[in-house]
Amino acid sequence: MTGPAATWEARADLVVVGSGVAGMTAALEARDLGLRVLVVTKDDADAGSTRWAQGGIAVVLEDGHEPGDSVDRHVADTLAAAGGLADPAAVGSILADGPAAVAALRRRGAVFDPAEGVGAAGALALTREGGHTAFRVVHAGGDATGAEVERALLAAASSAGSSAGPVAMLTGHVAVEVVRAGGDRGPVGGLWVLDDTGRLGLLRAPAVLLATGGYGQLFASTTNPDTATGDGVALALRAGAVAADLEFVQFHPTVLYTGPGARGRRPLVTEAVRGHGAVLVDSAGHRVMAGEHPLEDLAPRDVVSAAVTRRLAATGTRCVYLDATALPGFARRFPTVFAACSAIGVDPAADPIPVSPAAHYCCGGVVTDVDGRTGVAGLYAAGEVARSGLHGANRLASNSLLEGLVVGRRAARAVAGELTGPRRLPAAVDAVLLGGWAPADRDLVQRAMSRGAAIGRDGAGLAAASDAIEAATAPAPGLSRAVVEDTAMTLLAQAVLAAAGTRTESRGCHVRTDFPRTDDTYQRSSLLVGCSGGALTVRGAADEQTQGVA
Ligand code: SIN
Repeated sequence: MTGPAATWEARADLVVVGSGVAGMTAALEARDLGLRVLVVTKDDADAGSTRWAQGGIAVVLEDGHEPGDSVDRHVADTLAAAGGLADPAAVGSILADGPAAVAALRRRGAVFDPAEGVGAAGALALTREGGHTAFRVVHAGGDATGAEVERALLAAASSAGSSAGPVAMLTGHVAVEVVRAGGDRGPVGGLWVLDDTGRLGLLRAPAVLLATGGYGQLFASTTNPDTATGDGVALALRAGAVAADLEFVQFHPTVLYTGPGARGRRPLVTEAVRGHGAVLVDSAGHRVMAGEHPLEDLAPRDVVSAAVTRRLAATGTRCVYLDATALPGFARRFPTVFAACSAIGVDPAADPIPVSPAAHYCCGGVVTDVDGRTGVAGLYAAGEVARSGLHGANRLASNSLLEGLVVGRRAARAVAGELTGPRRLPAAVDAVLLGGWAPADRDLVQRAMSRGAAIGRDGAGLAAASDAIEAATAPAPGLSRAVVEDTAMTLLAQAVLAAAGTRTESRGCHVRTDFPRTDDTYQRSSLLVGCSGGALTVRGAADEQTQGVA
C-alpha cells in the first residue's frame, strides 16, 4: 500500500542528515572527493549541538603535547572511563587518527587558542578535563570550541574557494524516513524529507549519512538544544539498523543551576573550569569529591555526576557549587561561562557557581564500525548518533568532537569507495510512514524520563515511566516536524527504558539504586535489534526481552 507521492525530488551521491561537526566534516570531505553531496537539516545549519560544546577537542598532537603524554595514554584514559564497554580496537583506531583530523580542521580555517609563555611559539594551549591524566584538550575562544568548529566548517562549506563549489544545503527539512530500494531488505536508496509547510520531498541517493546528534531532549533539563530529539537513531532503527548502549545517557555534573523550574537547554559550565583548579562544594562548604575517586574533582564524568546526585539527596538541596573564586582571569579564559553566570547575577570571581547535573551526551546509538558503516548497505552514521565503540558506558570528556572529525572524514571516504549508481525506488511514500510508530506528548515524555530514568534509576521507576509514555501514545493526525520529532522521542524513550530495565547492574552512566554494583555478567552491550510492528527487542545485557509499545 502506498501513501502520498513526493511533491518534488532531487538526486545526490550522498545525503548527509545534520550539519554539526560529523556531518559537515563528512560533507566537505565528500565534496573534495568529487561526490555530489547534499546536507539536510531540519532547522538552521548551526542549530545543532556542536556550537554548544565548550571544553575542546581531546587529542595528543605530535608537535605539541604534554611531556610523557601519548596516544596510548589517551586510549588508556578513554578505556578507564568507559566502564568496560568500549571497544579497544575502535578506541585505538579513532584516537590515533585524531592529530590528522585536527590538522585537517585547522586547514579548513578553525583557529585554536595558542599556548602562552616562553618557548610556546606555534604551540596550542592545552587544558585538562575529567578522566584525563594529562593536559591534552585543545580549545578555541576560551570555552567556545564548538562554536569555532561550527563556524569554520560552515564557512568552508559555503566557500566558493573550492573548485568543487559550495556544499548544497537544504535547511528547514526534517528527515522522515530512510528509503530502502526493493522493499525492507534492499540497500538504501534515499530519504523522505518534509518541510515546514508539510511538503514531502524525495532525495534519491545510494548513501545516507546520519549525523543528527543525540537525544538529550528526552529529559526535562539538558545541555542539548531543542533539535536533539533522537531523530537519527529512530530513522536507523526503523530502517533496520541496530542500536546499542542507549541506556548510557551521560549527565554533565556542572550545568548552571538557574532555578527549580528550569526546563530545556541549560548553560554548561565546562569541566575545564575544574581542570584549572575549581572544586565542587556543597551548601555547607564541604568538598563533594574528596574521597570519592583518586582524581577527585577531575574524576570521570559519571563518577562526579553520581557523587553530586548523592550529595544533593543527602543534603536535600537542589544544587551544589563550583568554587572557582581562586582562578585568575576567569572572564578571559571562560567568556561563555562568565556571560551565563553574569546573566543570573553570579560573579565567578567572587561567588561559587550554583550547578547541578543535566542530561548531556548519549554514549550509545546506531551501531557502526569505525568508518561509520551501519549494518544496512548505504546507511552510515557518525558523531553522537552513532555507537562506534569509542565511548562504552561513559564517554571521556572532549572525545566527542574528535570522534565527529575522525569518523565524519572516514565515512565520506567509505561512501566514495563504495558508491553505487542510483537505485529504483517506489514513487510514493509507504503508507506506514514512521514505521507505524506513534508519538506521545513531548512534555509528558520529558517529565516521565526525568522522574524515572535519570541518575539513580530503579526497576519500578523505569517501568512506571514506560507505562506512562505508552498510555499517552496516540496516532498523530498528520505529518509535521513536531510529529516526526515526538515519534522519535517516544521510540527512543521506550528504547532507553527497555535497555535500562534489562541492565540490572550499575555501570558508567547507568546508575541503578536497586542494583548498585557492577556485575561482570553484564559486561557487554545491549543491542536493540528490532523495532518493527510496534515492538522493541533488547538483546545482550540480559535475556532477550520483547516489549510491546503502542
Ligand atoms: C565540557 O566542556 O565540560 C564538556 C565537554 C564534553 O562534553 O566533552
